[in-house]
Amino acid sequence: MTVSTSQRIFNFSAGPAVLPLPALQEAQRDLVCYPDAGASVMEMSHRGKVIDGIIKQTEARLRRILGVPENYHVLFLQGGASLQFSMVPINFLGSGGADYLELGAWSKKAMAEARKVGQVQVPWSGKAEGFKRMPGDGDFKVSPEASYLHITSNETIEGIQFHRDPDSQGLPLVCDASSDFLCRPLDISRYAMIYAGAQKNVGPAGVTLVVMSDEFYSKTLPDEKRPTMLGYKVHVENKSLYNTAPVFAIYMVGLVLKWLEEEMGGVSGIYAHNQKKAALLYQAIDQSDGYYRGHAEVASRSLMNVTWRLSSEELEKKFIQEAQARGLDGLKGHRSVGGIRASIYNAFPYEGVESLVSFMEEFRRKN
Ligand SMILES: Cc1ncc(COP(=O)(O)O)c(C=O)c1O
Repeated sequence: MTVSTSQRIFNFSAGPAVLPLPALQEAQRDLVCYPDAGASVMEMSHRGKVIDGIIKQTEARLRRILGVPENYHVLFLQGGASLQFSMVPINFLGSGGADYLELGAWSKKAMAEARKVGQVQVPWSGKAEGFKRMPGDGDFKVSPEASYLHITSNETIEGIQFHRDPDSQGLPLVCDASSDFLCRPLDISRYAMIYAGAQKNVGPAGVTLVVMSDEFYSKTLPDEKRPTMLGYKVHVENKSLYNTAPVFAIYMVGLVLKWLEEEMGGVSGIYAHNQKKAALLYQAIDQSDGYYRGHAEVASRSLMNVTWRLSSEELEKKFIQEAQARGLDGLKGHRSVGGIRASIYNAFPYEGVESLVSFMEEFRRKN
């Protein structure tokens, strides 16, 4: 049985999210038997030649696309970004505590885990303002003794994003980039560590990408009682192959990166594409005479997750239902904030945004 691609909806899901069709099709073609390997990627040893080649190629592509310098480690881990919320403080949070910017729901979760390990300082919080914006560099002052400064570059639930690499004022900068990894070029040298669950912009769920400077890695706190798997050491020393790696998920990441590099012009190409998509959608919100009310302040608007409200929850429900009937799926805002959220990650097509915008105009006329 073959499934027609025409049955695919416009998938605005926040994650796991839409994947590039060429990546899915290549995986489909090679699913049962990877070329010249006699078996599926899912069926081969993570220590064999084929998988070794796939992992090395995937790492090399990521380094090329993102401009990751030689003195940075690239790891493929499991446990999602949520495990990084624990691993980061377990490995690095020292006697001076760590600084966390409280930017939205996900940074709050990261902070809660860090607090289980040690002291957390909060140089800036967007809570009182309802998490509508990211701070400017002049808005906060870090604690000089802190082990690192943690940020969430894109708050998936609220739909706010940093559009620059923030100044960490001398502290190692640790960034949860789960929902905007590879959406724009980054100056990697400004970061001590970037981590991202793959399932929004880079691949399927099951693998977490970690990019870490060797300098930061060398600051790992000694702790003989730390469970082996919770230390970065074992993963760095074994090049992510200490235990069975999530080979199929890594393979899919490789296919997504191939698409990004060869068809989309890398991160600068996809950045332009993302800006165009987001501009169209924000324009529809701005030109609705207040019918649609965007959550984020303009300067912090996310390119990845666009969030807005209508005048009542009833109307929002109707909007979501009717959109779904048109093949515009996954628009319900996160249960903690309500409203509408359109996640338009790298692989989300421009035509999907055009389709949503024309639905929004029609809905407004009729309701
Ligand atoms: C910004 C951000 N951080 C962390 C997470 C948690 O990721 P995971 O489910 O991979 O643990 C998410 C998931 O939605 C997220 O959007």
